[in-house]
Amino acid sequence: MEKRALLYEGKAKRVYETDDAQFVWIEYKDSATAFNGEKKAQITGKGRLNNEITSLIFSKLEREGIASHFVKKLSETEQLVKKVKIIPLEVVVRNVAAGSFSKRLGIEEGKPLTRPIVEFYYKDDDLGDPLLIEDHIEELQLARKEEVAALKYKALHVNKVLSHLFLELGIRLIDFKLEFGKDAEGNIVLADEISPDTCRLWDANTSERLDKDVFRRDLGNLTEAYEKILARLGGPSHV
Ligand code: C5P
Repeated sequence: MEKRALLYEGKAKRVYETDDAQFVWIEYKDSATAFNGEKKAQITGKGRLNNEITSLIFSKLEREGIASHFVKKLSETEQLVKKVKIIPLEVVVRNVAAGSFSKRLGIEEGKPLTRPIVEFYYKDDDLGDPLLIEDHIEELQLARKEEVAALKYKALHVNKVLSHLFLELGIRLIDFKLEFGKDAEGNIVLADEISPDTCRLWDANTSERLDKDVFRRDLGNLTEAYEKILARLGGPSHV
Protein backbone atom coordinates (compact mmCIF):
# COMPACT_ATOMS: atom_id res chain seq x y z
CA MET A 1 0.00 0.00 0.00
CA GLU A 2 1.33 3.44 -0.93
CA LYS A 3 0.70 6.74 0.81
CA ARG A 4 -0.52 9.39 -1.66
CA ALA A 5 -1.91 12.95 -1.41
CA LEU A 6 -3.03 14.55 1.84
CA LEU A 7 -6.84 14.52 1.88
CA TYR A 8 -7.53 16.22 5.17
CA GLU A 9 -5.72 17.52 8.23
CA GLY A 10 -7.58 17.65 11.52
CA LYS A 11 -6.53 18.72 15.01
CA ALA A 12 -5.06 15.32 15.92
CA LYS A 13 -4.63 13.42 12.64
CA ARG A 14 -3.74 13.66 8.97
CA VAL A 15 -5.60 11.56 6.41
CA TYR A 16 -3.93 10.53 3.15
CA GLU A 17 -5.19 8.84 0.01
CA THR A 18 -3.64 5.48 -0.89
CA ASP A 19 -3.20 3.70 -4.22
CA ASP A 20 -6.41 1.80 -3.39
CA ALA A 21 -9.60 3.93 -3.34
CA GLN A 22 -11.11 1.67 -0.64
CA PHE A 23 -8.56 2.69 2.00
CA VAL A 24 -7.05 5.78 3.58
CA TRP A 25 -3.81 6.18 5.52
CA ILE A 26 -4.03 7.92 8.91
CA GLU A 27 -1.17 9.62 10.71
CA TYR A 28 -1.59 10.52 14.37
CA LYS A 29 -0.05 13.88 15.30
CA ASP A 30 1.63 14.98 18.53
CA SER A 31 -0.61 18.05 18.85
CA ALA A 32 -3.02 18.37 21.76
CA THR A 33 -5.99 20.72 21.66
CA ALA A 34 -8.85 21.38 24.05
CA PHE A 35 -11.81 23.73 24.39
CA ASN A 36 -12.46 23.79 20.63
CA GLY A 37 -8.83 24.61 19.85
CA GLU A 38 -8.41 27.43 22.40
CA LYS A 39 -5.76 25.48 24.36
CA LYS A 40 -2.95 23.99 22.28
CA ALA A 41 0.34 22.16 22.81
CA GLN A 42 2.78 19.81 21.11
CA ILE A 43 3.29 16.69 23.22
CA THR A 44 6.00 14.34 21.96
CA GLY A 45 4.78 10.75 21.93
CA LYS A 46 1.05 11.52 22.01
CA GLY A 47 0.53 10.49 18.38
CA ARG A 48 2.26 7.16 18.95
CA LEU A 49 0.27 6.49 22.15
CA ASN A 50 -3.12 7.26 20.58
CA ASN A 51 -2.31 5.20 17.49
CA GLU A 52 -1.19 2.20 19.58
CA ILE A 53 -4.15 2.46 21.97
CA THR A 54 -6.75 2.96 19.22
CA SER A 55 -5.31 0.03 17.22
CA LEU A 56 -5.52 -2.27 20.25
CA ILE A 57 -9.06 -1.16 21.14
CA PHE A 58 -10.43 -1.48 17.60
CA SER A 59 -8.86 -4.97 17.34
CA LYS A 60 -10.46 -5.99 20.64
CA LEU A 61 -13.86 -4.62 19.52
CA GLU A 62 -13.58 -6.51 16.23
CA ARG A 63 -13.15 -9.74 18.22
CA GLU A 64 -16.41 -8.87 20.04
CA GLY A 65 -18.22 -8.49 16.71
CA ILE A 66 -18.09 -4.68 16.53
CA ALA A 67 -17.05 -3.57 13.05
CA SER A 68 -14.91 -0.47 12.60
CA HIS A 69 -12.96 1.24 9.84
CA PHE A 70 -9.69 -0.11 11.31
CA VAL A 71 -7.68 -2.44 9.05
CA LYS A 72 -4.16 -2.53 10.52
CA LYS A 73 -1.43 -0.59 12.26
CA LEU A 74 1.23 0.50 9.76
CA SER A 75 3.81 2.05 12.08
CA GLU A 76 4.03 3.55 15.56
CA THR A 77 2.03 6.59 14.44
CA GLU A 78 0.15 5.35 11.37
CA GLN A 79 -2.73 3.06 10.56
CA LEU A 80 -4.63 1.88 7.51
CA VAL A 81 -8.41 2.25 7.64
CA LYS A 82 -11.35 1.72 5.31
CA LYS A 83 -12.50 4.88 3.60
CA VAL A 84 -15.89 5.89 5.01
CA LYS A 85 -18.07 8.97 4.81
CA ILE A 86 -18.11 10.37 8.33
CA ILE A 87 -21.57 11.10 9.77
CA PRO A 88 -21.18 14.63 11.25
CA LEU A 89 -22.27 13.58 14.74
CA GLU A 90 -20.25 13.03 17.90
CA VAL A 91 -21.92 10.25 19.85
CA VAL A 92 -21.11 10.54 23.56
CA VAL A 93 -21.89 7.78 26.08
CA ARG A 94 -21.76 8.56 29.79
CA ASN A 95 -21.67 6.15 32.74
CA VAL A 96 -20.65 8.64 35.41
CA ALA A 97 -21.31 12.39 35.59
CA ALA A 98 -18.30 14.44 34.44
CA GLY A 99 -17.21 17.25 32.14
CA SER A 100 -19.87 19.17 30.24
CA PHE A 101 -22.66 16.98 31.66
CA SER A 102 -21.76 17.93 35.25
CA LYS A 103 -21.37 21.58 34.28
CA ARG A 104 -24.59 21.83 32.24
CA LEU A 105 -26.81 20.01 34.73
CA GLY A 106 -25.13 20.90 38.03
CA ILE A 107 -24.41 17.27 38.90
CA GLU A 108 -21.31 16.51 40.95
CA GLU A 109 -18.47 14.98 38.93
CA GLY A 110 -18.05 11.31 39.82
CA LYS A 111 -21.74 10.58 40.55
CA PRO A 112 -22.64 7.28 38.82
CA LEU A 113 -25.61 7.55 36.46
CA THR A 114 -28.55 5.16 36.95
CA ARG A 115 -28.10 3.97 33.34
CA PRO A 116 -25.77 4.88 30.48
CA ILE A 117 -26.79 8.11 28.72
CA VAL A 118 -26.24 8.69 24.99
CA GLU A 119 -25.90 12.23 23.66
CA PHE A 120 -25.40 13.57 20.15
CA TYR A 121 -23.33 16.64 19.27
CA TYR A 122 -23.10 18.35 15.89
CA LYS A 123 -19.53 18.00 14.53
CA ASP A 124 -19.08 21.66 13.59
CA ASP A 125 -16.13 23.64 14.95
CA ASP A 126 -17.62 27.01 13.93
CA LEU A 127 -20.69 26.30 16.05
CA GLY A 128 -18.61 24.80 18.89
CA ASP A 129 -20.06 21.26 18.46
CA PRO A 130 -23.51 21.99 19.96
CA LEU A 131 -25.60 19.38 21.81
CA LEU A 132 -28.45 18.12 19.59
CA ILE A 133 -31.84 16.60 20.26
CA GLU A 134 -33.17 14.03 17.79
CA ASP A 135 -35.51 16.53 16.12
CA HIS A 136 -32.48 18.71 15.31
CA ILE A 137 -30.69 15.73 13.72
CA GLU A 138 -33.71 15.05 11.50
CA GLU A 139 -34.30 18.71 10.66
CA LEU A 140 -30.65 19.21 9.64
CA GLN A 141 -30.78 15.85 7.79
CA LEU A 142 -27.63 14.66 9.56
CA ALA A 143 -29.07 11.15 9.93
CA ARG A 144 -32.44 9.45 9.51
CA LYS A 145 -34.53 8.40 12.50
CA GLU A 146 -33.65 4.70 12.10
CA GLU A 147 -29.97 5.61 11.71
CA VAL A 148 -30.09 7.56 14.98
CA ALA A 149 -31.54 4.46 16.65
CA ALA A 150 -28.78 2.31 15.12
CA LEU A 151 -26.08 4.75 16.32
CA LYS A 152 -27.49 4.67 19.83
CA TYR A 153 -27.66 0.87 19.84
CA LYS A 154 -24.10 0.53 18.53
CA ALA A 155 -22.77 3.11 21.00
CA LEU A 156 -24.34 1.25 23.94
CA HIS A 157 -22.89 -2.03 22.67
CA VAL A 158 -19.41 -0.45 22.51
CA ASN A 159 -19.99 0.89 26.03
CA LYS A 160 -20.80 -2.57 27.37
CA VAL A 161 -17.70 -4.16 25.83
CA LEU A 162 -15.31 -1.32 26.69
CA SER A 163 -16.57 -0.80 30.27
CA HIS A 164 -15.97 -4.50 30.92
CA LEU A 165 -12.59 -4.51 29.20
CA PHE A 166 -11.32 -1.48 31.12
CA LEU A 167 -12.69 -2.63 34.47
CA GLU A 168 -10.72 -5.85 34.14
CA LEU A 169 -7.65 -3.61 33.79
CA GLY A 170 -8.52 -1.60 36.90
CA ILE A 171 -9.89 1.37 34.96
CA ARG A 172 -13.35 2.96 35.10
CA LEU A 173 -14.78 4.12 31.77
CA ILE A 174 -16.50 7.34 32.82
CA ASP A 175 -17.57 8.57 29.37
CA PHE A 176 -16.38 8.61 25.76
CA LYS A 177 -17.05 9.96 22.29
CA LEU A 178 -17.51 7.90 19.14
CA GLU A 179 -17.76 8.81 15.48
CA PHE A 180 -19.33 6.66 12.81
CA GLY A 181 -19.09 6.57 9.04
CA LYS A 182 -20.80 4.88 6.13
CA ASP A 183 -18.84 2.42 4.01
CA ALA A 184 -19.22 1.94 0.24
CA GLU A 185 -22.23 -0.36 0.81
CA GLY A 186 -23.92 2.16 3.12
CA ASN A 187 -23.22 0.17 6.31
CA ILE A 188 -22.69 2.24 9.45
CA VAL A 189 -19.28 1.43 10.96
CA LEU A 190 -17.33 2.79 13.89
CA ALA A 191 -14.63 5.25 12.75
CA ASP A 192 -12.17 7.89 14.01
CA GLU A 193 -10.32 6.84 17.19
CA ILE A 194 -10.91 5.48 20.68
CA SER A 195 -8.11 6.70 22.93
CA PRO A 196 -7.52 8.64 26.15
CA ASP A 197 -8.14 11.74 23.99
CA THR A 198 -11.74 10.65 23.44
CA CYS A 199 -12.52 8.78 26.69
CA ARG A 200 -12.49 9.67 30.37
CA LEU A 201 -10.58 6.89 32.11
CA TRP A 202 -10.11 6.88 35.90
CA ASP A 203 -7.98 4.46 37.88
CA ALA A 204 -10.52 2.24 39.67
CA ASN A 205 -8.67 2.40 43.00
CA THR A 206 -7.20 5.89 43.15
CA SER A 207 -9.46 7.81 40.69
CA GLU A 208 -6.26 9.10 39.06
CA ARG A 209 -7.16 10.71 35.73
CA LEU A 210 -5.60 8.74 32.86
CA ASP A 211 -7.04 10.76 29.98
CA LYS A 212 -7.04 14.13 28.25
CA ASP A 213 -8.37 15.89 31.38
CA VAL A 214 -4.68 15.76 32.48
CA PHE A 215 -4.04 18.28 29.66
CA ARG A 216 -7.35 20.17 29.85
CA ARG A 217 -7.01 20.74 33.61
CA ASP A 218 -3.19 20.79 33.97
CA LEU A 219 -3.19 17.74 36.24
CA GLY A 220 0.30 16.43 35.40
CA ASN A 221 2.14 14.53 32.69
CA LEU A 222 -0.11 13.47 29.82
CA THR A 223 2.20 10.92 28.20
CA GLU A 224 2.81 9.19 31.56
CA ALA A 225 -0.95 8.80 31.98
CA TYR A 226 -1.43 7.50 28.41
CA GLU A 227 1.55 5.09 28.84
CA LYS A 228 -0.29 3.58 31.83
CA ILE A 229 -3.36 2.93 29.67
CA LEU A 230 -1.25 1.41 26.88
CA ALA A 231 0.66 -0.81 29.33
CA ARG A 232 -2.55 -2.10 30.94
CA LEU A 233 -3.96 -2.89 27.48
CA GLY A 234 -0.84 -5.00 26.93
CA GLY A 235 0.74 -2.65 24.41
CA PRO A 236 4.41 -1.91 23.66
CA SER A 237 6.03 0.20 26.36
CA HIS A 238 8.43 3.12 25.80
CA VAL A 239 9.21 3.74 29.48
O1 C5P B 1 -16.68 17.51 27.35
P1 C5P B 1 -17.66 16.40 27.57
O2 C5P B 1 -17.91 16.09 29.01
O3 C5P B 1 -18.96 16.61 26.81
O4 C5P B 1 -16.97 15.11 26.93
C1 C5P B 1 -17.56 13.84 27.01
C2 C5P B 1 -16.59 12.80 26.47
O5 C5P B 1 -16.43 12.95 25.06
C3 C5P B 1 -15.18 12.90 27.07
O6 C5P B 1 -14.65 11.60 27.21
C4 C5P B 1 -14.41 13.67 26.01
O7 C5P B 1 -13.04 13.32 26.01
C5 C5P B 1 -15.08 13.23 24.73
N1 C5P B 1 -15.09 14.27 23.68
C6 C5P B 1 -14.27 14.14 22.56
N2 C5P B 1 -14.29 15.09 21.57
C7 C5P B 1 -15.08 16.17 21.68
C8 C5P B 1 -15.92 16.33 22.80
C9 C5P B 1 -15.90 15.36 23.80
O8 C5P B 1 -13.55 13.15 22.44
N3 C5P B 1 -15.09 17.07 20.69
